[in-house]
Parts: sequence; C-alpha cells; structure tokens
Amino acid sequence: MQVVSISSLKGGVGKTSVTLGLASAALAAGIPTLVVDLDPHADATTGLGVSAGDHLGIGEMLRGARKADLAANVVPSGWTKTARRLNGQNTPRQPVLDVAMGSAFSGIYDRPDLGKRDLKRLSTLLGKVSGYGLVLIDCPPSLNGLTRMAWTASNRVLLVAEPGLFSVAGTERTMRALDLFRQEFAPNLAPAGIVANRVRSTSNEHTFRLAEMKQMFGDLLLEPTIAEQANWQQIQGAAHSVHHWPGDSAKQAAGTFDSLLKNLVQAGSVRNRVMRRPAS
Ligand SMILES: Nc1ncnc2c1ncn2[C@@H]1O[C@H](COP(=O)(O)OP(=O)(O)O)[C@@H](O)[C@H]1O
Ligand SMILES: [Mg+2]
Repeated sequence: MQVVSISSLKGGVGKTSVTLGLASAALAAGIPTLVVDLDPHADATTGLGVSAGDHLGIGEMLRGARKADLAANVVPSGWTKTARRLNGQNTPRQPVLDVAMGSAFSGIYDRPDLGKRDLKRLSTLLGKVSGYGLVLIDCPPSLNGLTRMAWTASNRVLLVAEPGLFSVAGTERTMRALDLFRQEFAPNLAPAGIVANRVRSTSNEHTFRLAEMKQMFGDLLLEPTIAEQANWQQIQGAAHSVHHWPGDSAKQAAGTFDSLLKNLVQAGSVRNRVMRRPAS
C-alpha cells in the first residue's frame, strides 16, 4: 500500500486540487484508493461528493485511534457512481474510491508541539485497513501536528507549489522540514517530488520561477506541471471527477494527472530518491 501525503506550508497552492486530480486518475486506472482528508476545512471531502450519513469523521477516529474502525467509517466517493455507469454494470471489479471524511475536530491535533504518541494516531488507523493500493492524505497548510502525523503514516510526500516567489520559498522551507523530520522520525519516508500547479505557459514570471525551481530542486521537480485551468472551480464545485468532465481542457488535465500518478506508483524508481539539491 503506497501512502502519499500531499503537503505544502502555504494554503491555496492546490494541495486539495492535486489530491482530487490524483484520486480521479487512480479511479480511472482502477487502483483501489482511500483519500484521508486531514484538513479540518474538509475541502477534499466536499470535492469527492460524499454523503456523510452517521459515519465518523477523521478527527473523531484519530481521538479513539486504537479502538476506532476506519474501514467501517470510510464513505465511497460519489464519483464511483459515474465510474460504474461508464464502466458498465458487468465489469468484474467495481471501482473503489473511499474517503475518510475531514472534520473540524481534527484541528485539536494541529499543534506545533504534538508528542510522539499522538503523531502515530493516523498510522495506527491505517494499520487496520487493507485492500487499498493507494492512500492519498490531503494535509492542512502548515507543518504542525496534522501534517507531521500524515508524514509519520506515509512512505512518500508530494509537495505542491505555485511558480511564484513566496510559494517557491515556502517549498524550500518545507523541504528542509521534511529532511529534518526524516532524520529524526521517519528514515524510510521519501519525497515523491514537487509538482508545480497553476502554471501559465504565457507568463514570463512563471517561466522564470520554474527555471529557478529546477535549479533548486533538480529532478524532484516533477513533469508534467499542472496548467492553470479556467473551469477548475466549476468542476470542483460540481463535485466531479476531472476524468468524467466533458471537453478538451478537462481531458488535458486528466492526462496530466494520469502521468503524475504513474510517476507516483512507479515506486522503485522514485522511492529511493535521496533528498539532495543538485550540484550547482
Ligand atoms: N490548476 C488550477 N487551475 C485553476 N484553479 C486552480 C488550480 N488549482 C487550484 N485551483 C483553485 O485554487 C484554489 C485553491 O486550491 P486548493 O486545491 O483548495 O488549494 P489548497 O488545498 O492548497 O489550499 C481553489 O479554488 C482551486 O479551485
Ligand atoms: Mg486544501
């Protein structure tokens, strides 16, 4: 089971969008996937179109991690209905895209001083589920307790950055924090890379920042980058999978996430990447 945290120090750069795009690609590829919505704002949960029913949110499950039954409280994404319809009812394997729902309650763990025992709460929960090929954890925009809890439970961390000055600087700081965290708590945690989001190919500033990122991060800067997309908010607002949305621009975005996912699940080649800057 590949467990990937999607992180950045900065809010609004596209963590949730990348989580949703990868979930959409995993659904299209038939990889049984669980999305853990660790951001107390629960945007990923909204985007995945779940009906909560009386299931517990992730915050409540983390509180009772040793006894909580994660498998009994995950909810299928509404996207699976469309996938089933498109696949036809007679496909032998039904699509699996489950959601451990975000909840404001998880905010109690988003402290800077979270102790070692608390850091293991999500690993404890995930240790009880099986059958998923991929787990995507959508993190809040900080390096506090929740992100560190996600990193503790992960084998890979994918960072998201916009090609702008503050976002690039924030990514450098996050890389450093990740490096320290690995040394202290998680020697097997590997960076999955940095994905640049909202890229405008016509912007000189973006071209400049991307070149700067390439120099700073070398091949940790992933290809392809994700383009700024005019109808992105519309797709998310409709709680739709980008793979199910009509039109060429959605198809192009879907293709980008297919490639990024492929990169991510080819564990061997990327898992062993070392966290180093390229020689200048
Ligand atoms: N590639 C993109 N093109 C257009 N809008 C985007 C793109 N990526 C993200 N957005 C929009 O930017 C806003 C912030 O993105 P979001 O994924 O919620 O960021 P985060 O989770 O890092 O806070 C959202 O309204 C989202 O729809
Ligand atoms: Mg978010």
